[in-house]
Amino acid sequence: MMISLKFLLCCLLVSSCAYATIVSHDGRAITIDGHRRVLLSGSIHYPRSTTEMWPDLIKKGKEGGLDAIETYVFWNAHEPTRRQYDFSGNLDLIRFLKTIQDEGMYGVLRIGPYVCAEWNYGGFPVWLHNMPGMEFRTTNTAFMNEMQNFTTMIVEMVKKEKLFASQGGPIILAQIENEYGNVIGSYGEAGKAYIKWCANMANSLDVGVPWIMCQQDDAPQPMLNTCNGYYCDNFTPNNPNTPKMWTENWTGWYKNWGGKDPHRTTEDVAFAVARFFQRGGTFQNYYMYHGGTNFDRTAGGPYITTTYDYDAPLDEFGNLNQPKYGHLKQLHDVLHAMEKTLTYGNISTVDFGNLVTATVYKTEEGSSCFIGNVNETSDAKINFQGTFYDVPAWSVSILPDCKTETYNTAKINTQTSVMVKKANEAENEPSTLKWSWRPENVDNVLLKGKGESTMRQLFDQKVVSNDESDYLWYMTTVNIKEQDPVWGKNMSLRINSTAHVLHAFVNGQHIGNYRVENGKFHYVFEQDAKFNPGANVITLLSITVGLPNYGAFFENVPAGITGPVFIIGRNGDETIVKDLSTHKWSYKTGLSGFENQLFSSESPSTWSGESVPFNRTMTWYKTTFKAPLGSEPVVVDLLGLGKGTAWINGNNIGRYWPAFLSGIDGCSAECNYRGAYYAEKCQTNCGEPTQRWYHVPRSFLNSDGDNTLVLFEEIGGNPSLVNFQTIGVGNVCANVYEKNVLELSCNGKPISSIKFASFGNPGGNCGSFEKGTCEASNDAAAILTQECVGKEKCSIDVSEEKFGGACGGLAKRLAVEAIC
Ligand code: GAL
Repeated sequence: MMISLKFLLCCLLVSSCAYATIVSHDGRAITIDGHRRVLLSGSIHYPRSTTEMWPDLIKKGKEGGLDAIETYVFWNAHEPTRRQYDFSGNLDLIRFLKTIQDEGMYGVLRIGPYVCAEWNYGGFPVWLHNMPGMEFRTTNTAFMNEMQNFTTMIVEMVKKEKLFASQGGPIILAQIENEYGNVIGSYGEAGKAYIKWCANMANSLDVGVPWIMCQQDDAPQPMLNTCNGYYCDNFTPNNPNTPKMWTENWTGWYKNWGGKDPHRTTEDVAFAVARFFQRGGTFQNYYMYHGGTNFDRTAGGPYITTTYDYDAPLDEFGNLNQPKYGHLKQLHDVLHAMEKTLTYGNISTVDFGNLVTATVYKTEEGSSCFIGNVNETSDAKINFQGTFYDVPAWSVSILPDCKTETYNTAKINTQTSVMVKKANEAENEPSTLKWSWRPENVDNVLLKGKGESTMRQLFDQKVVSNDESDYLWYMTTVNIKEQDPVWGKNMSLRINSTAHVLHAFVNGQHIGNYRVENGKFHYVFEQDAKFNPGANVITLLSITVGLPNYGAFFENVPAGITGPVFIIGRNGDETIVKDLSTHKWSYKTGLSGFENQLFSSESPSTWSGESVPFNRTMTWYKTTFKAPLGSEPVVVDLLGLGKGTAWINGNNIGRYWPAFLSGIDGCSAECNYRGAYYAEKCQTNCGEPTQRWYHVPRSFLNSDGDNTLVLFEEIGGNPSLVNFQTIGVGNVCANVYEKNVLELSCNGKPISSIKFASFGNPGGNCGSFEKGTCEASNDAAAILTQECVGKEKCSIDVSEEKFGGACGGLAKRLAVEAIC
């Protein structure tokens, strides 16, 4: 009765009621057309890939067992200038949502419009910061007006295309704000009022689907407060009518310049998900399912890298990250099969002590069970309803009928794919890459100190530049007479700075540069300098590497040369300080090469192929190349370069900084999935360039004919090693328990040979498998060769029937390494 009334109401409100989907909720689950659902969702951010990649990514999400795709909406990308909007190319939000719809999936639209997301300035446009009287994320009228304006516009766009479920579209949930509960304490009473305003404003937009607020335990009804984190099984929503929902299950972590590659194990992600469903959860979203790439200047910061791989189930390029993708897919299938019991069943738990518990979901039709072992060290063997079960430490077993274990989070039966990079077969690079170059024209700034505006004050970079560029020049001319007390032999320049990277010049001479390390973004830089009697031009180049995206009042974190700036003179024991802070400072945003669009393939500027310099600062390089053959994702190896920006056929593929090595400590080859994950737990890539390979989406390339790569090198580097490569599966490994089915696949390529196979108790890991003390009678390698070699994929029953008996009564495994 309830349902038909709601449906009727919906018919009155929307025109396409015949197709409208009614999304509601109760304390147990999100309900779609009257059915409680187990919903698995994954984050894919549309601007972090290309439109051409979307169908494949979303399809892989569906094949991976997801019901829904989640994305944020990126305000600063869509409204780069106030009231001028951009929804072109990979900012075509509507097209992205329609791609989700075409795939028959649901969508979760997290409008924010504050999004955090390791995105530049958390998604806020910098012009917003520069509006008079502005204060972000509080009851500030100017802010609320702008936030409402943008949010309303997005909602209207989406409504116009009938994309909300209430209109027959895919979107089942919408989000306002983001994790404000984490910072609300810093905003006092105004923060509480702001959250109420957010809720009212969102509700007034009448989207016809529930609104969520994540990490917001004071979310006013009917907003659904949800949890974000590595684990959310302990989370309880703030209202008995709100289902237990997890909006961000971090599948890995992001990387900073100077940081290492974080990995979160497959076993641990699966454990966290299974625990969540064991303990009454019904909606779970992977953040990220596909992380992708921070193209152009979209990376947040300071210091978020260009890659946003995140160790997600789909890697940066859209390849399956195995075994993570496959192991989670199996989990999704099992959970979906239990949808009825999980969402309608009565819940009871049995405590076995030592952190082992079983949870029974029981309906009249049947029961489903979980056995969770949260102990970090001891495996459990427990007798549950008359049967013994082995539950490894830090794992959950799932028994859809409460009898048969069909899944354990720590027992991976999916292949591991080892990704390899291959040289560009279209030409003999790097030896054939011919470089030409141009210097960045710095005469005006270095010798004349000439900018676009002048002020008797040192200003924050955001205020002067509106974030139109990473680069801001601060210039002043100082007259120093030989009688001046500061004049002397040992003079220096001292700069109090919050520039992420700083270059200092006196009279055109580069006196030094500085880059922030270890997160100390406020520092004093001092360097000896030679001054002339008379006029001296001081030129300081401040460079941002992504604006902050997180924390209370993060928008006010200074950027640039905030001063004071001093000339220091030393006479014997005496130190004389000349404060230049209120001098006449001249400002110039950006670089002339950017203004002249040297990165564009059509740029008419002349480049020289003669004596191409190496290790020269502020230098433009250009080359042409042939696109690598085939369809595998392409990367460009920028080893040898310093720091800068790269363009492919005019497309900005992001900042590069291979000269920034990651720290040498804190990596380990082995990673124990047991125990709570934290971002530093399982890292690789110590002491190497933070990021050496950069994604070149296939759609940026001409498959026949020439392609152009342009580099702007800021600190000096050597382009002679630059080369293009493709990424694909090199070999695949598996280590599967008996009574399972092993699927081997080379991602569309044929399996070329079996390097190792043994059924019994083999030891070692992928690449180093070895036979154990017992092995089955049939030749495992021969069986696999026959069934798999030459095929794109094969499916093998891991059983005694197939491979023969071995090892007495012990549980056996099949270890395989196959070459693609
Ligand atoms: C969350 C935030 C996300 C993202 C994540 C870390 O706090 O909501 O947007 O920044 O952290 O990747």
